[in-house]
Amino acid sequence: MEKEIRKRIDALLSVMTLKEKIGQLNQEALSPKELEEIKNRVKKGELGSIILANSATAGNDKQDKVYYEIIDEIQKTAVEESSTGIPVLFGRDIIHGYNTIFPIPLALAASFDPDIIKTAYSHMAKEARNNGVNWTFAPMIDLSRDPRWGRCIEGIGEDPYVGGCVAEAMVKGIQGEELSPDSSMAATAKHFIGYGAVEGGRDYDKTEISDYTLRNFYLPPFRKAIDAGCLTVMNSFNEINGTSTAASKKLLRGMLKDELSFEGFVISDWGSVQKLTFSGQAKDMKDAAKISINAGIDMDMVCRAFMDNLEELVKEGKVSQETIDDAVSRILYVKFKMGLFEKPYTEHKEIDTEEIEKIAEICANESMVLLKNDEGTLPLKKEEPVLYVGPMLHEKHSHLGSWSADGDASRVKSIAEVAKERKVNALFAESDYLWDGVLPFVRAASAVVVALGESRKVTGEMNSLAKIELPGEQLEFIKKVHGLGVKVIGVMAFGRPIALSDAEPYLDAILYTWHSGTKAPESIVSALYGDVNPSGKLPMTFPRFTGQIPIYYNRDKGGIPLDSYYGESNKRVHSYHDALATPMYPFGYGLSYTEFSYGEISADKTEIALEDLKSGDGFSVSITVKNAGNREGAEVSQLYITDKVSSMVRPMKELKGFSKNSLKPGEEIKLNFFIDYEKLGYYNDEGIFTVEEGDFDIYIGKDSYVKEKITVKVE
Ligand code: NOJ
Repeated sequence: MEKEIRKRIDALLSVMTLKEKIGQLNQEALSPKELEEIKNRVKKGELGSIILANSATAGNDKQDKVYYEIIDEIQKTAVEESSTGIPVLFGRDIIHGYNTIFPIPLALAASFDPDIIKTAYSHMAKEARNNGVNWTFAPMIDLSRDPRWGRCIEGIGEDPYVGGCVAEAMVKGIQGEELSPDSSMAATAKHFIGYGAVEGGRDYDKTEISDYTLRNFYLPPFRKAIDAGCLTVMNSFNEINGTSTAASKKLLRGMLKDELSFEGFVISDWGSVQKLTFSGQAKDMKDAAKISINAGIDMDMVCRAFMDNLEELVKEGKVSQETIDDAVSRILYVKFKMGLFEKPYTEHKEIDTEEIEKIAEICANESMVLLKNDEGTLPLKKEEPVLYVGPMLHEKHSHLGSWSADGDASRVKSIAEVAKERKVNALFAESDYLWDGVLPFVRAASAVVVALGESRKVTGEMNSLAKIELPGEQLEFIKKVHGLGVKVIGVMAFGRPIALSDAEPYLDAILYTWHSGTKAPESIVSALYGDVNPSGKLPMTFPRFTGQIPIYYNRDKGGIPLDSYYGESNKRVHSYHDALATPMYPFGYGLSYTEFSYGEISADKTEIALEDLKSGDGFSVSITVKNAGNREGAEVSQLYITDKVSSMVRPMKELKGFSKNSLKPGEEIKLNFFIDYEKLGYYNDEGIFTVEEGDFDIYIGKDSYVKEKITVKVE
């Protein structure tokens, strides 16, 4: 911690009463309707923070609007009328946009473009801070291998490496390279930890995660977020290996604060302190307060467990004065770092929404994934007669996805509106929905675009599904259209990956558009007609059937060959489906309207001493990538490593680098990736990062199915 800030914190601590200190550890959700009550409480120093939400599942419930004038009025009370003059943190869930909504985080991960993600989050921060919000509960960086889990749409997918790059970009976007009191918000890395592994994909369920898996898979995005300066962390709702995270000293004080040197503060997720009384780890709220603050929770979201019990617990010696001071110091540290003492109020100005929308559209363009394109079905020609149908055709709100409470749906045009506006030869049936009356209209068309999808309301928190296949009526409809012998293009606006084995044979092209925000329909129509060349790649495996879950590319090698993911062995997979043990679409997969060809991989060394690696040396691997087609397009080149022999069972492949490049037809570039100690190692059973001698296969190619490799020996 900076000396100057430490001095200011100590000066405050020396004059604060215990009650005032406890007030800093308390966050409550108070609606702007109760303004006078809030001001009163703030004056008494009872609220270190206010959450601007009026329900626990704010991702899908309607929320009261936020007004910066009200926030500033409360802040004025804190600064001018409370005895300590400490400003308040105003938190809200700005998960993928404020008024302008960007693609859901999982879709942003599909862009494989940390620069655009950072830019996107800096615009979200600007828009929200302009309205008084100085703290967001984002980024959500939970790794998940389970598309049944509704919250996988808020996360980074199944890979710790790309997850780490996305986490870093989001934090730097939200907080800025330098925290600015006008345009930055404090970021929250959440949910610590393991929430994405909930049993059966059921929200809030328990998890069992070994330390080995935790450190090598679930922790890396958090490590990156914290190294990027993330100021706060939120604990997760799940129990992990028999302990609620809110009660886990090992995870909060041990792993997060000590091992990762996290200097900011930990906010409990909504009511998660109280939840200790439900899970039976605490006998009452007082017990819950004692356990969680001792474990390392610094601020209590909404359940008043700290506010009502900490004074007594300190007097009884069950919570030490040092523990309270440490929690208060961390909260004050964030407030000082944010510059809130110097500039507590909102610098509200007119915002150029057009500029923000442009970035949102680029993000949507870059996130869409072309999953299938038989015989060049796409792009369409503007003059060819194309029938547009489907449940998402006139839809606006669902494109915004979950967590879009402040999203302005009136700024979203539907796919139908955009197609009309672009003056393409779009045909519409009397009804756009999936019924037989639509079928006669098919005759006039050379292709049918079916806008498929799921409502944003079946994604996000408390929205897990037991079946992730294409909904029945959507499947039946595409079968019928396909039966008429016309080309069928599925535009798929889903939040999560879905299982497409039943539907895929009836679709000539599949454009997976996710829930991609305010400008999604513009991007979709641009991609359909080739004004945008899709360049997204999957950050999460698409299974064929729900029953294949969990299925992920970076699985262990296993004793009896279990490499069915890669289609190389079908032993020990599900009965009756042996031939289909592979995923529908693997991690990293995505097509383009152009073709990319790869040269041979070369390395500047094929042997390197372990000692040299330890002292910072490494080696470079290179490859050329060429746009061998006749359209400009961007390719995400991916580097994977396999540690061939190691003391512990290691993954079949691990992503350790990627590079997204836009190439003109015929253009070729040479890519160089530097491989160092960090990229070759892993955390062993004792939690020690280690690189072992032996051979490492290094692959570079277009997705996780890449076969071209070079072997480098570490000795
Ligand atoms: C509960 C969610 O789990 C969390 O992600 C969110 O930030 C809080 N509610 C506040 O809305």
